[in-house]
Amino acid sequence: MKSLYNKYGPLAVILGASEGIGAAFAEELADRGFSLLLAARRTGPLEDAATGIRDKYGVETGTLFLDLAGNNPWPIIHHALNGRDYGLVIYNAAASPIGPFLDLELEAARRTVSVNVASPLDVVYGAGNELRERWRRTGKRGGIILLSSLSGLRGTPNVSAYAATKAWNLVLAEGVSAEAKPQGVDVMACIAGATDTPGYRDSLTGRGPGAPVMSPRAVASAALRKLGNRGSYIPGLANRLVAGLIYGLIPRRWASGILGKATSSLRRRDDARPLLDYSSHHK
Ligand SMILES: NC(=O)c1ccc[n+]([C@@H]2O[C@H](COP(=O)([O-])OP(=O)(O)OC[C@H]3O[C@@H](n4cnc5c(N)ncnc54)[C@H](OP(=O)(O)O)[C@@H]3O)[C@@H](O)[C@H]2O)c1
Repeated sequence: MKSLYNKYGPLAVILGASEGIGAAFAEELADRGFSLLLAARRTGPLEDAATGIRDKYGVETGTLFLDLAGNNPWPIIHHALNGRDYGLVIYNAAASPIGPFLDLELEAARRTVSVNVASPLDVVYGAGNELRERWRRTGKRGGIILLSSLSGLRGTPNVSAYAATKAWNLVLAEGVSAEAKPQGVDVMACIAGATDTPGYRDSLTGRGPGAPVMSPRAVASAALRKLGNRGSYIPGLANRLVAGLIYGLIPRRWASGILGKATSSLRRRDDARPLLDYSSHHK
């Protein structure tokens, strides 16, 4: 079987790469010899992540500072790639406001749609077309991973807009996966459950959600193992059991009530805040 590098190398683009699951993808790929283009908004954490990877793995690691809440980001990413041969794109960044939908700022929900829906759409379209063209020219396959969430499997109170965007990523990835696989592009949604990242820890109150929590590296390596195999994948046996329960055993009309109990313990936050605020919030 071809190694991941032989299949999707030599370079991977990770959008939302300075910490959490994105940084874990960067480590997993650098460990396999990939060069990297890492993107995020805050310069300090992203430069630190890139330096750490260069020092540890000796791979070429570029950085791109951009806000994925803006207009179509693909032309900027394409420009930053500067003609380099890439085979893998991971869209990891997300906005995740927490609180009852009607009580949040409308701007927070709109921003969530921008980062979690509009930009992934642009990236799948832009990268997907380039990777398909590359496959036609060279016979080399390409890969795209979108981050979905267990909360995207059913309406989830307290994170209603976020969960809806994660459902959208899942459905987009599965559809495009079936279309693009015969054209040399493997697309997959990684349906993560609770994962121990700064974003996740920031959402916790003392009570905690009581869900099984995975490490970011375990999520990233499981997703990379399954890319090319299927249109979506849930890392972690416990998460697959939870999903089986929510999908298979609990009637749809009850699921949101049960999920709402779990998410009621999350700390309210409003991802519409401007970047400076955001930076001071994430230490
Ligand atoms: N952690 C979980 O429990 C969990 C569960 C299910 C699904 N997921 C999914 O997994 C993904 C990663 O989650 P995470 O917990 O690792 O997130 P995180 O710890 O908050 O990290 C997110 C990364 O994305 C970057 N980012 C955020 N907004 C951005 C923007 N507008 N433009 C550019 N970069 C941006 C952040 O850097 P800057 O702040 O510097 O931009 C950071 O590098 C998300 O798609 C999330 O929905 C996570």
